[in-house]
Amino acid sequence: MSKTHLTMSVNKEVKRITTHILQEMKNRGEKIAMLTAYDYSMAAIVDDAGMDIILVGDSASNVMAGHETTLPITLDQMIYHASSVVRAAKRALVVVDLPFGSYQGNSKEALNSAIRIMKESGAHGVKMEGGVEIAESVSRILTAGIPVMGHLGLTPQSIYKFGTYTVRAKEEIEAQKLRDDALKLQELGCFAIVLEKIPAKLATEVSKSVQIPIIGIGAGQCDGQVLVIHDMLGINNDFKPRFLRQYANLYEQMNGAFKNYITDVKSKSFPNDKEQY
Ligand code: KIV
Repeated sequence: MSKTHLTMSVNKEVKRITTHILQEMKNRGEKIAMLTAYDYSMAAIVDDAGMDIILVGDSASNVMAGHETTLPITLDQMIYHASSVVRAAKRALVVVDLPFGSYQGNSKEALNSAIRIMKESGAHGVKMEGGVEIAESVSRILTAGIPVMGHLGLTPQSIYKFGTYTVRAKEEIEAQKLRDDALKLQELGCFAIVLEKIPAKLATEVSKSVQIPIIGIGAGQCDGQVLVIHDMLGINNDFKPRFLRQYANLYEQMNGAFKNYITDVKSKSFPNDKEQY
């Protein structure tokens, strides 16, 4: 790190985003930007860009570890990713997914998992998938003073129950359960809810009917949006669902850079006279 960079980092005064600020943003109609990150270097770039929330998602299981689903990632692994992100995030609120198996057993187990995340990573809140069925756990975690973000609609930890990653809550029965679950999570005291892959009309309706911020992914206009960083940067070349807007094609750019490096090494053009001591 150069001397100039060090001075700049020290002098930069940044105000941390809080759950209260997010609520104020919803109240005044300002949209909330949320993105995933799983490591220090990426999180530093995301934070410096002005992201409101960084989600240390259990999608790390897919994009960082190469698993087919989010189920295998462990609490220890989530804490490792979360601590790296927290060290980088100066402004963003850092929210961490409670991974599969760390909260479904009972509310005591759920509280212990949430406490471990907060204590060992320094994160600012946790996210949990599910509605009324996890109400007791959500409530117990909130009672301990830990901010909770809900997650409804397509909940990837239940993928083997759903069978596919297609749009949820298209039928009225499931749509009504989602409305009820959103109200329940709000009543319990959650500070926000992620709605994943549901019809835009339903997500907009829920955004209007609940007071807390609704963050959508594949859910049309809500109070905010979230994407998986590897998807929006085009690192996963073969994942292009309809809801995704790709802001870069890093697969192509990185692949090109690696090929150029290989060529330079093999041809002995790297290192040149100026690139050595
Ligand atoms: O794990 C994750 O990245 C998520 C987002 C898709 C919301 O839960």
